[in-house]
Amino acid sequence: MRTAVVVGNPKPQSRTLAAGVLVAETVTGAPPDHVFDLVELGAGLLGWGDPAVTAAVETVAGCDVVVVASPTFKATYTGLLKLFLDQVPTAGLAGVVALPVMLGAGPGHQLAPELLLKPVLVELGATCPAPGLYLQDSAYADDPRLAPWAERTRPLLTALTAIRT
Ligand SMILES: Cc1cc2nc3c(=O)[nH]c(=O)nc-3n(C[C@H](O)[C@H](O)[C@H](O)COP(=O)(O)O)c2cc1C
Repeated sequence: MRTAVVVGNPKPQSRTLAAGVLVAETVTGAPPDHVFDLVELGAGLLGWGDPAVTAAVETVAGCDVVVVASPTFKATYTGLLKLFLDQVPTAGLAGVVALPVMLGAGPGHQLAPELLLKPVLVELGATCPAPGLYLQDSAYADDPRLAPWAERTRPLLTALTAIRT
């Protein structure tokens, strides 16, 4: 199972990145093969055809499972993440199982990963079998939502990646 974590936080090496990696490890049982801290792609995300951006998109598209993680900014995912997702071609995530994950400071936007981030991933062709996961930023590692979500999601990943291979 090839896995990646995509992190759309303008702050590098953020808790969102750590949470995305934790989610990937918890649900797959192994560290992700790739971690893309999108802020490192810098201004390449503002145009078309940047080699590093293209390589990142192709790597993500070639994975079986991708955790797409963002902090909550103004009730939704970040503009940085959207810049990256805009680089994915039509149906570019076909065959990829995507897991939308968002961190937030409070509970007010806990439906954002399901209602706002997941539809974009589906538009790009990804399969999103699990509910979008929202974690409290100050205690993401101990968030009681994580373990039951992972239990529910793990067999879905196993089944879907078996179909793909
Ligand atoms: C510009 C901005 C807007 C934010 N808007 C929200 C929000 O609408 N809802 C919320 O729960 N947290 C909001 N926050 C808090 C961030 O979601 C929180 O700080 C982030 O998840 C922490 O993750 P990090 O440590 O990886 O940056 C906002 C933070 C910033 C900087």
